[in-house]
Amino acid sequence: MTSTGQDQRIVALLDFIDQHPTRPIDRQSASWVVDQIGLSQGNLVDLTDCGQRFMVAVLFESMDNPAGAAELFVLGYRPSLGTPEQLAEAVAWAETKATRSSARCLEVSIPPVLMPLEPVLRTQGYQLMYRLLTMHLGHVAPPNDLAVELPSDLGWANLSEDNVRSAHDCYRRAFAGTSGTQVPDLELFRSTILKAEQTPRVLLSGDRVVAFSRVAWHDEQAGRGEIRAVARDPDFDRARLGQAALLEGLRTLEQLGATSACLEVASDNEPAVGLYEKFGFQTQEVAEVFRRTL
Ligand SMILES: CC(C)(COP(=O)(O)OP(=O)(O)OC[C@H]1O[C@@H](n2cnc3c(N)ncnc32)[C@H](O)[C@@H]1OP(=O)(O)O)[C@@H](O)C(=O)NCCC(=O)NCCS
Repeated sequence: MTSTGQDQRIVALLDFIDQHPTRPIDRQSASWVVDQIGLSQGNLVDLTDCGQRFMVAVLFESMDNPAGAAELFVLGYRPSLGTPEQLAEAVAWAETKATRSSARCLEVSIPPVLMPLEPVLRTQGYQLMYRLLTMHLGHVAPPNDLAVELPSDLGWANLSEDNVRSAHDCYRRAFAGTSGTQVPDLELFRSTILKAEQTPRVLLSGDRVVAFSRVAWHDEQAGRGEIRAVARDPDFDRARLGQAALLEGLRTLEQLGATSACLEVASDNEPAVGLYEKFGFQTQEVAEVFRRTL
């Protein structure tokens, strides 16, 4: 395929995801996932029924997560089309591919719009493991009593080539053992994060990144920003760095002009859910995450 043909296909896939989204994802991230992981690595599921597209999904097969899980990540889905047999075929394809990688199991998350997939998964022996919460906050200016006074040797900076390795280390160590997170290797992390439209912020202690904050637009027209990730190095557990990272994220969103915020978090990630609830985030939607051992 020519690069122009490829571009047109990506645009068509992204337009479909925009029109039939299954979860909060900004177009830039969707573009990166579809292009870099889906198309370039041959991990794209692009399903049509009588010429009409009804599902776009990407298989993440070699990420670092506690369950050794590959994830079938459905980005766009039009519920009125597609038969259970077609969905079952897509899952079977993902299983076959994941089996060839080092994955020990396959995870599929089902937001409400993807409910037709649930009986298909249950029939194939998938079990509900945890829930993925979409949480919202109706403002981005936190009350003063949540302000954090940082030690004088710590300071926020933009993520850059100079600190990306340490940022990856902080991110990887923070998210180890956390449900619902796929930690990319350094190369993948670097190529995504350095190109992010909103530059992530890192909290530095000298050269060492000790906390991380990343935001993006979720829906710019509606003024809704998204907290994509907050994390602190586990050496600094409960030292208010997570709270400082969330404050930094909200501050960045406020500077962008956002008036509300949303995020996704696994229901069993008690520290993060506790942090978000402390700031007033409320659950608006629940997706169920199913898993099957391969
Ligand atoms: C979530 C996370 C950022 C919290 O960071 P932290 O620096 O350890 O926590 P803080 O000291 O800032 O705590 C702030 C609030 O978070 C909540 N919290 C933090 N740890 C908690 C825990 N173990 N259990 C329940 N609530 C917790 C509390 O509400 C706490 O306020 P309090 O101390 O007044 O009760 C941290 O656990 C982390 O990096 N986890 C891995 C990455 C992750 O899951 N990120 C969120 C998803 S994007």
